[in-house]
Amino acid sequence: MNQSMRAIAVEQPGREYRLVLTTLERPRPGPGEVLVKVAAAGVNRADIAQALGGYPPPKGASPVLGLEVSGTIVELGPKADGWSVGTEVCALLAGGGYAEFAVVPIQCLLSVPARVDLVAAAALPEAHFTVWTNLMDTARLAEGQSVLIHGGSSGIGTAAIQLCAARGHRVFATAGSADKCTACVGFGATRAINYRSEDFVAVVKEATEGRGVDVILDMVGGDYIERNFHALALNGRLVNISFMAGATATVNFGVMLMKRLSFMATTLRARSNDEKGRIGTALRQHVWPLIEAGKIKPVVDTVLPLGQAMEAHARMAASAHIGKILLAMEG
Ligand SMILES: NC(=O)c1ccc[n+]([C@@H]2O[C@H](COP(=O)([O-])OP(=O)(O)OC[C@H]3O[C@@H](n4cnc5c(N)ncnc54)[C@H](OP(=O)(O)O)[C@@H]3O)[C@@H](O)[C@H]2O)c1
Repeated sequence: MNQSMRAIAVEQPGREYRLVLTTLERPRPGPGEVLVKVAAAGVNRADIAQALGGYPPPKGASPVLGLEVSGTIVELGPKADGWSVGTEVCALLAGGGYAEFAVVPIQCLLSVPARVDLVAAAALPEAHFTVWTNLMDTARLAEGQSVLIHGGSSGIGTAAIQLCAARGHRVFATAGSADKCTACVGFGATRAINYRSEDFVAVVKEATEGRGVDVILDMVGGDYIERNFHALALNGRLVNISFMAGATATVNFGVMLMKRLSFMATTLRARSNDEKGRIGTALRQHVWPLIEAGKIKPVVDTVLPLGQAMEAHARMAASAHIGKILLAMEG
């Protein structure tokens, strides 16, 4: 007989959604999967979108919220080669993180870096998988190039600023308050721009002698799309990972043509496990050593107990946080 576990359920998905503790059957690992006893789960804006009813899990994924966890491997499925029971890991999930146990495909497992405690390690996977593949694979950020990170104080932004700074890039970041801008500079941004009081296009242009930046990582969209084109240098690349201010806009594409720009947009969640595994291999090679050297840190805003998932969502929805909000299974 299967054992049970505590997990979060979404009551009344939609605008009035509520997150409540429930009891579910503990999942079992299939071929190429392991079962992780979860120490903590990362909260992501995509979880809010899913609870609102707008971002359903991909086919085959757990309907439980949660795209990343840290914890300990407690069971191996068949052919889970290279991993052992008892190993502490963090993992990217297509769903199922807001629970005491989660099944993880081995391609999506990473070891917990030295210097990082097990709970804080839940802050790493979603941000670093997303940042690496969008900046390096998609936008082809090359040595010596400059970058603008929108939403610099977000889970994604805090990881992106640190990665780019650690690799020697000149980093601009936008954020919505003076405190968030100060934090962005602390993470390694050369210049943080308070978008409520400054025009990021003007600031970037002035700081680069009119040239613009080589790459922009954007999650805002809306009227930022055309403004980003103006902030880019010749042959610049814009990659959107979200459109929080709107996915529709009236855009003058002439500037794209004249500056030979590229505009791309990607999502991570529905990619194959093999593709996620290739990103994980790059993280192991290029990012985990920077974390172990203390040059990149998980930025943990708040750790709340699993039962306070609703409070965690409220904090994120209000954009009151800097870095990651985590749900811990103990406490
Ligand atoms: N495509 C992918 O594969 C992928 C993967 C991971 C995440 N994402 C997306 O990337 C975004 C960041 O994720 P996250 O988990 O790091 O979220 P998060 O921590 O909540 O970050 C969002 C931040 O963006 C800023 N912001 C700027 N304009 C905004 C607006 N119009 N509405 C709301 N917030 C605005 C907010 O800070 P200010 O105070 O500065 O406004 C907020 O803190 C989310 O939209 C998420 O869905 C996409």
